[in-house]
Amino acid sequence: MLTHGKHTTKILSKWYKHFGIDHVFIDATPEFTKKSSKKIDQQQEFISLEELRNFIMETDVCGLKKFARHTVFSDGDPSSRIMLIGEAPGEQEDIQGKPFVGQSGQLLDSMLKSVGLSREDTYITNIVFWRPPGNRTPSPDEIVMCMPYVKEHIRLINPRILLLLGGVAAKAILNTSDGITKTRGNISKFQDINAVPTFHPAYLLRSPGQKALAFNDMIKMKKLLT
Ligand code: URA
Repeated sequence: MLTHGKHTTKILSKWYKHFGIDHVFIDATPEFTKKSSKKIDQQQEFISLEELRNFIMETDVCGLKKFARHTVFSDGDPSSRIMLIGEAPGEQEDIQGKPFVGQSGQLLDSMLKSVGLSREDTYITNIVFWRPPGNRTPSPDEIVMCMPYVKEHIRLINPRILLLLGGVAAKAILNTSDGITKTRGNISKFQDINAVPTFHPAYLLRSPGQKALAFNDMIKMKKLLT
């Protein structure tokens, strides 16, 4: 049973299909759509990064904020040409309020270093701004609810390159149901921005044999800067 508005239901149906979900038997309506004190305008445009940041800091756009210690908005240089997008904050990120500061973050730092970059040379964010309880993958609903703000985030940063870390980010940004094994290393476009999907550092920690492929993706990404 879906209880969203017509417009939201249409977007959700598309995303359920996209994630291979044929039927939804539970009422997966995020809490804020049931008893929201704030009206969420899916088409909202922000005039500055600060305005978007303030809005995200104070609004539960997808129902996850109430479970989290901190909102994890971003880290790095807003004027960078490289914008990194991960999946969702984990435990350490939730504690510190910054993306990629745990074990995955350490590996991400090494991946950047392998091509002569540091995190300060980049701008880092996630598809959702709050840690999902128990570190679960964000649900299609939660992703759909955050996407208008992620798109605004990209528009305001206006990077040359998007480095998409893992399948959740790649599927959401590239609007594809293809898995990361298939999309990684293929230079795609998000609007007119080059987007390079690669493996998520957390996956590489579990499957270190795949690091060489991720290294190739990093080289491809770096070459796009020249
Ligand atoms: N994994 C992510 O996708 N993002 C983070 O910020 C941390 C871990």
